[in-house]
Amino acid sequence: MSRLTNDIDNISNTLNTSTTQVISSIITILGTVIMMLYLNPFLTFVNMLVIPTMMLITSKIAKRTRKYFLNQQESLGKLNGIIEECISGQKLVKVFTREEKQIEEFNNSNDDLKKIGIKALILSGFIPPLINLLNNINFAFIAGIGGWLAVKEIITIGVIASFINYSKQFTRPINELANQFNMLQTAIAGAERVFEIMDEKPEKEDEEDAIKLSKISGKVDFENVDFSYDEKTPVLKNVNLHINPGETIALVGPTGAGKTTIINLLTRFYDIQKGSIKIDGVDIKKINRKSLRSSLGIVLQDAYLFSETVRENIRYGRLDATDEEVERAAKLANAHKFIQRLPQGYDTILSEDASNLSQGQKQLLTIARAILANPSILILDEATSSVDTRTEMHIQEAMLNLMKGRTSFVIAHRLSTIRDASQIVVINDGQIIEKGSHDELLKQKGFYYNLYMTQFRKRTI
Ligand SMILES: Nc1ncnc2c1ncn2[C@@H]1O[C@H](COP(=O)(O)OP(=O)(O)OP(=O)(O)O)[C@@H](O)[C@H]1O
Ligand SMILES: [Mg+2]
Repeated sequence: MSRLTNDIDNISNTLNTSTTQVISSIITILGTVIMMLYLNPFLTFVNMLVIPTMMLITSKIAKRTRKYFLNQQESLGKLNGIIEECISGQKLVKVFTREEKQIEEFNNSNDDLKKIGIKALILSGFIPPLINLLNNINFAFIAGIGGWLAVKEIITIGVIASFINYSKQFTRPINELANQFNMLQTAIAGAERVFEIMDEKPEKEDEEDAIKLSKISGKVDFENVDFSYDEKTPVLKNVNLHINPGETIALVGPTGAGKTTIINLLTRFYDIQKGSIKIDGVDIKKINRKSLRSSLGIVLQDAYLFSETVRENIRYGRLDATDEEVERAAKLANAHKFIQRLPQGYDTILSEDASNLSQGQKQLLTIARAILANPSILILDEATSSVDTRTEMHIQEAMLNLMKGRTSFVIAHRLSTIRDASQIVVINDGQIIEKGSHDELLKQKGFYYNLYMTQFRKRTI
């Protein structure tokens, strides 16, 4: 964020103010050099001796200050990060009474920034006075040598007088350029950081012969899929799944087993290392990403809403939906009632992070959004984990209608919600350990049976 705001701001400020000045300085320098050459080439040569010295000194200093300015931008970024975290994690800071610790952290980071800033400024502050000094030396040289030439009657006093004037004209823009140096330094440091982002590899392009899916039936096959996020620790091992169109498949398993990972692969947020994933018999690597994703409707584990009206948040699922369609989706998701109770109903603007809604309400809105998208494959990752059991039942009834004719992936820790799934897949440690319908799995008396019994017993006690 800091790179996209502070650094870009710096670059744009520098470009705005410095560019005109740099251009006018360069033109002035060129003009005076021509005039000086016309007056006396030898004195011009003496005058020019100063330039390489100036350049040597400024580039020596600049090399060092560049590093400091880069550090300065970095620590400014870090400081912004700390502030951002403190503000968004405000409740946590309060509840764990970590105010002092947080303030200390801020102060440390702020001190770092101050120290680096001072160093950078002091070092770069040397440049203008040094240039001034060289100017004065230059001035003395011209006066001295000019005087000697005048005594020899090679030039007149008038030439010396105008030459000295030009010489001043000459160094003033150079001085200005040197003053612009500080700004240029931060801008360059900022530009480097911005370029780092621009150089990041974007998501791989679709292959040229990528297939565009139009209407898919929703057959999904995972064949011997191996996957690891970091190419070292395997997360999924030899996963085989075959889902027929219109089936509801439930993924259950302990935390960290790899359920969300399976969804991440289906949406091609990541590419698999071994095996294949096919939709309607076509390898998803050969499918155009946009058409693949637009045939999926997803309710992610972490509900995310934009600071927009409730209506627009639901409409995000399908931008050309009418208001009636939005409301119908909200009704199906059981969100209509609570939305009506909001101060401005569907036109209530959600605050940042949707903090003016309860967690369950957020989930209902994200479900409505996925319903509106009317996808061929519906994915619900812990979509109802924060709503009460009665609301969950209502949603499920509505979902049953919705899921008809489309393939659905449901991930849920509450097993009561997935009892009716056509296929329940139990994943543990990245491997499928059991597969079958609810009744079949209960009969097996394996992992699922135990899981179900623990939940069931808890509820009856
Ligand atoms: N972006 C990521 N980078 C690296 N490792 C990851 C990433 N996301 C998940 N993992 C690892 O992959 C494993 C499986 O995670 P996954 O999110 O699929 O679990 P899950 O079954 O969805 O769990 P939960 O029920 O808690 O949602 C975990 O061990 C996790 O540490
Ligand atoms: Mg998960």
